[in-house]
This record gives sequence, C-alpha cells and structure tokens, in this order.
Amino acid sequence: MAQVILVEDNKVLNDLISINLTSYLNVDVIHRKNAQEALGLLSILPNIDLIITTAKVMDEPTAEILSHHIASNKLDTGLIVLGSSEKPTNDFTINIANPKDWEAVVHGSARILGINEDIIARKPIPDYAPLPIRYLLNLDSVNCDVFIRIKKSPTEYQFIKRIHNGDTFSKESIMRYTEQGLENFYIDKDAYKNFTIFLSNRLVEKMDSPKMEITQRIQIMGESYEIAINEISRLGFNSETIQLTESIIQNMVNNFQKSPEMSNLLHKVINSETQLLFQRCHMTSVVASEMVNNLKLTDPQAHNKIAYASFFHDIMLADYEGFSKINSAEELDKANLNDDDREMVLNHAREAAVIIRKLPDTPLGTDEIIMNHHGTFNGVGFSNSIEKLSDLSKVFIIAHNFVLHLILFKEKGGEPRPITEELYKRYPGPEVAVIIKALERTLKKKTK
Ligand SMILES: [Fe+2]
Ligand SMILES: [Fe+2]
Repeated sequence: MAQVILVEDNKVLNDLISINLTSYLNVDVIHRKNAQEALGLLSILPNIDLIITTAKVMDEPTAEILSHHIASNKLDTGLIVLGSSEKPTNDFTINIANPKDWEAVVHGSARILGINEDIIARKPIPDYAPLPIRYLLNLDSVNCDVFIRIKKSPTEYQFIKRIHNGDTFSKESIMRYTEQGLENFYIDKDAYKNFTIFLSNRLVEKMDSPKMEITQRIQIMGESYEIAINEISRLGFNSETIQLTESIIQNMVNNFQKSPEMSNLLHKVINSETQLLFQRCHMTSVVASEMVNNLKLTDPQAHNKIAYASFFHDIMLADYEGFSKINSAEELDKANLNDDDREMVLNHAREAAVIIRKLPDTPLGTDEIIMNHHGTFNGVGFSNSIEKLSDLSKVFIIAHNFVLHLILFKEKGGEPRPITEELYKRYPGPEVAVIIKALERTLKKKTK
C-alpha cells in the first residue's frame, strides 16, 4: 500500500482529502502538522511515496522546506502543493491552486503513484452514513446496528457489524477504535435521524442530571456542543438539535449562577478537554454575565440572551476555527484569505443573526448582540466605534475581546499584558469606558 503524508491545517480540507484518497486510491494517509514533523517521519521512513502539503503552515514555508529536502536528498517522493498557482520548478512537484478541488488532488496523486485513473470514475455508492466515533463516547447502548468499513478492493467496501442494536458497551471499548486511528463508524442511512434523536435525548438527560460534578458536566457540554453544531449545519434546526442546544445554553447559565467565583469557573472551562470553540463560547457567556451583574443592568433576560449569543455568534465559522480568531479589519487583511473565505469572515455575524431568528424561543434581541459582535450595526465587517450600540452588545464585545485574549495567551504563552489598557485605546468614548471598568472590577473581585 502506498504511503502518503498529508500536511493540511484546515480540518475540513484535511478530512475531505484523506477520505477521498483512502476511498479512491486505497493509500495509507499519515497526518503531520508541519514541515518539521514531516521531516521527522521522512528520516525514519525515507520511502514515503508522496507528500501532500499546504503551501504554508502559519509562517512556515512548509512546501518549500519539503521540496528542498526531497531534492537535496535525491528522494523518490512526489510532492503536491495545495494553494499554490505557481509553475513548479522541478519534475516531482504538482501545484494545485484550489485546495478544495479534491478531485484534482486525487488525480494528481494517482499520476504520481502510477495508479490507473479509471478508478476515479467508479464512485462507490454508500448506503451507510458515517458517524464520528466520538458520538458514541457518551452512550452505553445504541438504537441501531453500528458498522465499521473495511476496504475489499480499490473500489469496494465491506461493512462489518461491530455493535448490535440494543447491545451495551463501555467508553473504553469505543476509545479503542479511536486509538487504532479509526474516525468513523457507519450506520444505515435511514437510521440516522432516529439515532440523533436517541443521542440528543441521552446527552440532555446527562447534562440535566443534578448530581453531576461540574468538571464532568463541562466535559459533556463540550461534547454536546460539538454534536449540536455539526448536526445544525447538516440538518438545520429540528426538535433534537433545538432541545440539545437549549440544554447546553441552560447549563451555561446554571454553571455561572452556581459558581461563587468567576475565575474558578473560567479555569475549569479552559482546562477541560473540550474544543476551543466551545471553551470560548462558555467563557464569553460567563464573563459577559458577570459584567451584567456588576453593571446592575436590569434586563431580566440578559443572562439568557448572552448565553444564546455566545453559543451562536460564530456558528458560520464552526469549521474554520482559525478564522473565528480574526478580530479586526487589520487582522483580516494580514490573514491574506482568498475572496470566498474573506467574504465568509466579513459576513459571519450578519448570517449568524439571520439563522438564529429561525430558532423558536430565542430571547428577543439576541440577534442584535450577534449582529454587533465585531462592532458594526449591520453585522458586516469590523468597527471600533461601538459607543452607540446597546449596553448588552457593548458588554458582549468587551467580554469577547477579553476571552479571545485569554485563549491566545494560553496558546502562545509570553508575557501576560493587561488587556483593559488596549481596550480603552481601541474603543474610545465614555460609555464604553464604563463597560471596560466593569470588566476590570470583575477581574479584581474574588467572590461574588
Ligand atoms: Fe467569536
Ligand atoms: Fe465572530
């Protein structure tokens, strides 16, 4: 079996390319994060057939480093560079400008690996729907048969039943599949909807159980958040995704109200083993709610509105976690995105506000907070003139800035610097100053 190294930091693209490479070409895909890691593997496995890499990972000229390594060591490894439209300067490289064009990636790989391209015309017809393995981590039984997929020939799969409808199983037995590198189980396509109903009910039951310890509750909320966001983008709102969403939001509000110390709760969230997007969402809701209390705002729905806004404000960027960290027009320019991605970032606040209006029982005014979360009235682009926005929008913007700062500090390390000074400069005006002061007070205060 041919061995291929894949270096692609966009999770969606990474999945798309790996699934198609393994489905069509029956190759072994090995994931590496950057040039350094790929070189590490090449030193033990110099016979790797092909490397597929994004042109750059952050500031690292990944493709250039790898190309240089292949040339200077006279390796037989082919190279496919994603996101480069330049003409290759050697004969072992293929450049593909649009990395989403997975068919071009499969064709290019077939050519380098000497695989007959006819294969690509014969697409497999799946009757099964993939189910991320982590979906089963919070269950101990399922309401349908669960299969794993095995390759029989380059164009044929075999589905082998691993869990019978109604069987019980342990979390450890599910984790063993992940440890073996498996990403998906499969279930009958027609069973998918019933399965999500079953899963949502179980997660809601767990989250709503009063006995659960907070760390464990945060863990389940994080897993549920991931599932809810995934299923909302697949199926839209239905009674299950709505029920799941409401339960997570209610738990965010409860966690806040039950925790005597804000810093303690933030600590638990940021150290939980959950996705960054969930951590940011929960922390923003906690900090903003604390500021609302500190400012003595009288809106009885304030905490709810804030929790809903935290959950949904970046939903359009759920698959592009990096983009959700872009927080100003300058940062957007620096990110050097292609036109489609740039549009997506510019419009994500407006689009999320439109989506949430379709969700029944959302507290009135949540859409406005979402629309304003990067400072503009209409939810397009970024602005620092936020004086005239509503108090809740201003609170949300300041809390959102603070949490992003905290997350970046956790990721990158370095000297901790007081964010409030920067915020006074960035958002001038007396009305915003009152809000930033409230953040300062909440950060100083130890107990409620
Ligand atoms: Fe955000
Ligand atoms: Fe955003």
